[in-house]
Order: sequence, then C-alpha cells, then structure tokens
Amino acid sequence: MLIKDKVIAITGGGRGLGRAMALAFAEKGGHVALLDLNQADLDETCALATAQGVRASGYLTNVTSEADVTAALDAVVRDFGRLDVMVNNAGITRDGLLVKVKDGQVVSKMSLEQWNAVIAVDLTGVFLGGREAAERMIRLGNGGVIINITSVSRAGNVGQTNYSAAKAGVAAMTVVWAKELARFGIRAGAIAPGFCATEILSAMKPEVLEKVTAPVPLKRLGKPEEVAHTAVYIVENDFFSGRVIDLDGGMRF
Ligand SMILES: NC(=O)c1ccc[n+]([C@@H]2O[C@H](COP(=O)([O-])OP(=O)(O)OC[C@H]3O[C@@H](n4cnc5c(N)ncnc54)[C@H](O)[C@@H]3O)[C@@H](O)[C@H]2O)c1
Repeated sequence: MLIKDKVIAITGGGRGLGRAMALAFAEKGGHVALLDLNQADLDETCALATAQGVRASGYLTNVTSEADVTAALDAVVRDFGRLDVMVNNAGITRDGLLVKVKDGQVVSKMSLEQWNAVIAVDLTGVFLGGREAAERMIRLGNGGVIINITSVSRAGNVGQTNYSAAKAGVAAMTVVWAKELARFGIRAGAIAPGFCATEILSAMKPEVLEKVTAPVPLKRLGKPEEVAHTAVYIVENDFFSGRVIDLDGGMRF
C-alpha cells in the first residue's frame, strides 16, 4: 500500500512509539488520526505531523472503552473520509512477580488490579481497535492494514505475567485477523519490539535498565524511529500478513 494520502489511525499516538510512527507515516505523506488519553501529547504530536504538510487530528480516547473506540473511529471516518491503516499501539505495564518471597515468606503477589489493568489496555484495547477498524474498512471497501504492537515479552518475561499474557494474545489475534480479513483486502501484522527508549521504561531503575541491555547482542535500546520504520514496511509490503516482526537487537528471553 502506498502511504501517500492514506489515513492512518494510531492508538497511543500521543507520545513514544505511537508518535514516532505518526511522524514516519506523515513523512511519507500519510494523514494521521491519533487516539490517546493525553490531550497535551495529542496536540504536540499533531503539530509535529502537520508541520510535515499532512492532516493530523487527535481524539481523546480510552482504548479500554468500547464506546470511546467506536466514537473515535466514527469521528476519524467522518473527518478524513477514509481509514486505511489502524495501529493498535496503546499499552501499559504494571509489573510484579506472581508471588514475591523474601526470607522464606510470601511478601506480595501480583494483584488482580495489576492483572486487570494491563489486560484491559494491552489486550482488550487491541481487540476493540482491531474489530472497530475492520468493520469500518470493510464498509468503506478500500481494504486496509491493521498493525498490532506486541512485545518481545510475549515469550514470557519475569515480572510480567499480565503483560506477557496480553502480548501473546495480541500476537495470536494478529494471525486470526490475517486469516479472517484477507478476503476483504485487509492485512494484519504485528511488531514485537525489544526494549526501546520511550517513557514506558521511565519506571525502570537505572540498574534494571542496565540489566535489560546486557543480554541484547547489539547492546542498546531500540529507537522509536526503528519501530516506526518497521510499521512503514508492513504497510508498504503487500505480501506481508499474519506474522510478527521481532525487532529486538537480537535478544531473546
Ligand atoms: N518501549 C518499549 O520498550 C516497548 C517494548 C515492547 C513493546 N512496547 C509496546 O509499544 C507500545 C507503545 O509503548 P511506548 O513505549 O510508546 O509507551 P508510552 O508509555 O511512551 O506511550 C504509550 C501511549 O499510550 C497511551 N495510552 C495508555 N493507556 C491508554 C488507554 N487506555 N487509551 C488510550 N491511550 C492510552 C499513553 O497515553 C501514551 O501516549 C505499547 O503497547 C508497549 O507495550 C514498548
């Protein structure tokens, strides 16, 4: 798919990887619709995108809310007249060990709140975004591309029962959608980044960050622009569907 003059919706598009993807699509002449919880971030990303000569609009949206996602995508189609690419990128972490033991005593557990919060955004949010985008793409009749952002953690990362489960689910949904939606000219692909330099990592202590890059053969964090480059590739390559691209500097859990 040629990106120029297409309409690309991105959840979590206010900052981080979402912003980098928005700017990469804008650089290629794509118009961007950004769905996020944070108005100030939305405004900033929209300003950066419009400076590249494309249209950009922000939509205050909580991806865990069916009503929000539905209303936002209705507004995108109304405002832009089309929807060609949906990037389900919004995600959070609430890390913790399943059961934490100190000096032989159980001192804490991953709470149900931690579990539910991550499943709601990282798994249900992707389900809602993918479903609502697919419905509109089918109705508009131009085909489309759905990109889901999973993670290297989908293989199972210590301290991330909730996140690993959600991200494994996202990878599985991508395969299902590629099979179900191909007959409508819709492709689905996913990106599984390793640790990248965005604010989602700001909760990590420096010593943890050092531990994170040590096992990476390339010995560094990924750059948001490198993830954006991969998203552009998925849109542009019409034979790509149903697969997850690992972008992790060579690191495996
Ligand atoms: N940064 C990394 O190291 C890394 C690695 C692998 C995967 N990922 C994944 O990439 C995606 C983007 O991560 P990031 O590093 O840019 O994170 P980030 O925290 O910098 O940005 C996430 C964005 O999502 C938005 N958001 C959060 N909850 C939302 C909700 N309920 N509704 C709408 N928007 C919401 C936030 O407001 C924010 O703008 C996430 O799915 C994350 O799991 C990140």
